[in-house]
Order: sequence, then structure tokens, then C-alpha cells
Amino acid sequence: MGILEGKTAIVTGAGRGIGKSIALSLAAQGAAIVVNSAREESCGAVADEINRAGGKAVAAAGDVGDAAVVERVVKAADQFGGASILVNNAGITRDGLAMRMKEEDWDEVLRVNLKSAFLLSKAASRPMMKATWGRIINITSIVGVLGNPGQANYCAAKAGMIGLTKSLAKELAPRNILVNAIAPGFITTDMTQKLTDDQKNGILSLIPLKAFGTAENIAGPVLFLCSPAADYITGSVIEVAGGMGM
Ligand SMILES: NC(=O)c1ccc[n+]([C@@H]2O[C@H](COP(=O)([O-])OP(=O)(O)OC[C@H]3O[C@@H](n4cnc5c(N)ncnc54)[C@H](O)[C@@H]3O)[C@@H](O)[C@H]2O)c1
Repeated sequence: MGILEGKTAIVTGAGRGIGKSIALSLAAQGAAIVVNSAREESCGAVADEINRAGGKAVAAAGDVGDAAVVERVVKAADQFGGASILVNNAGITRDGLAMRMKEEDWDEVLRVNLKSAFLLSKAASRPMMKATWGRIINITSIVGVLGNPGQANYCAAKAGMIGLTKSLAKELAPRNILVNAIAPGFITTDMTQKLTDDQKNGILSLIPLKAFGTAENIAGPVLFLCSPAADYITGSVIEVAGGMGM
């Protein structure tokens, strides 16, 4: 029997990459999963994979920057008894130097990466409050702590997520809802495949462990934060970045 038997997790942006790995790892420990991503096919495929392996999952596609979609995604968890774990993982980049950044690229990154986490936390914390048990895990980024040229919108959103994490951790602690963030460094996924070899080599030179991370390197700490071993951790930002940012 898995350590998350009887729990229900919503994982956003779980059609591929880090979110998919998180969804599979929570499902392997017995959690029922609401698999969200922007695209129907990708989250449907991940839900099928979990169900075929003997787990429980349902797909709930849609843009989590949209409040109506968020209501639907959170409602999808009701068939498994209501949300008890929320992983705010959906994220996008629209990079460019701030001097040249279009206002719409600023707004879109803040909407998808930060506003979604607020909307989802607000909606999903209702069933958690009722159960007096909940875990919210926000996938921020090491660049939300350090800053990064060309990513003012993304870094602002990720830094905002850290403020959101700490505020919610304080608000929800009396209801035994723990809120933490994980700040990945450079993880090999479709998102980072866009970078040039020069950019990748530049980043590698800043990583003490001299390797890029994998999606599984992030799924492990998420599972830890959902486990009883982390029952006394709230409001923390765990850097999973191979030492980048020390
Ligand atoms: N890859 C890295 O190096 C890295 C580093 C730090 C933080 N992160 C963060 O980790 C998270 C996952 O990154 P990844 O590398 O797996 O990215 P990815 O681009 O491979 O996957 C992103 C997922 O989010 C979904 N998504 C995008 N916009 C959405 C929306 N509006 N509504 C719902 N779903 C949406 C996509 O459909 C996809 O399934 C992101 O928040 C990202 O900012 C990634």
C-alpha cells in the first residue's frame, strides 16, 4: 500500500515534463490524480497511463489562468473525495530583455505562472479545510530567487509564487494545510530544449554538481513534501538545483 492511499492530488501542467513525472510518482504511492495540462491529448495520455498501471486518474484539460477552468479542474477531484494535494506546476516562458518585452508577454507569464497558483490554491483549499489536511506545493524556480537577464516576467512570477507560498502557509497552518515551494534549477525538459548549446554550456558552468537535473529529481522532493516525513515543514522553499545559487 502506498503512502498516499486515500489522497487526491491535482497536478497542473502534467501533460509532459516535470508535471508528468510528479503525477506518475504521486499515483505510484496510491494518490488519485487529476491530471491537468493545456492540451487535451497530453493530459488524457498521462491519465490513461496511470489508469493502465492500476492507479486512479482523470484528465481535466484547460488553461489554469482562467478562473472558470480552475473551478472545473478542482471539481474533477470530487469524484475521488475532493482535493487533498495541489501541485501548481503549469508554467510558460516568453523571454526577452525587459527593454524590449511586450506588455502582453509580461501579462501572459504572470497570468499563467502566478495568477493560476492563486486561483487554484483558493479553490482547492476549501475541501482541504473541511478535511483539516492539505498539501500545496508550488513549483517556482531558482531564477525566482536569483533573477535572470531576459526573464524579468518569468522571474517576477516565480518570485511572486514564493511570496504566495509563505502567505498561504501562514493563513492555512491552523487548518493543517502545509504550503511549500520547490525551486528547480536547470531541468532537462521541452521547456529548456529551446536554449542554444552556448546558453546550456553557460548554465552548466554555474552548477556545482556539473549536470542538468531530471524531472524525477523534482518529483522526489514533491513526494517527500506530501509524505508524513514532511509533516512539520511549511512555508519553505526547497532549492533543487545541483547547488546553483549557493
Ligand atoms: N525545466 C526547467 O529547467 C525548470 C526550471 C525551473 C522551474 N521550472 C518550472 O517547472 C514547471 C514545469 O516545467 P517543464 O520544464 O516541465 O515545462 P514544459 O514546458 O515541459 O511543460 C509545461 C506543462 O504546462 C502546461 N501548461 C502550459 N500552460 C498552461 C496553462 N495555461 N494551463 C495549464 N497547463 C499549462 C503544458 O501543457 C505542459 O504540460 C514550470 O512551472 C516551470 O516554470 C522548470
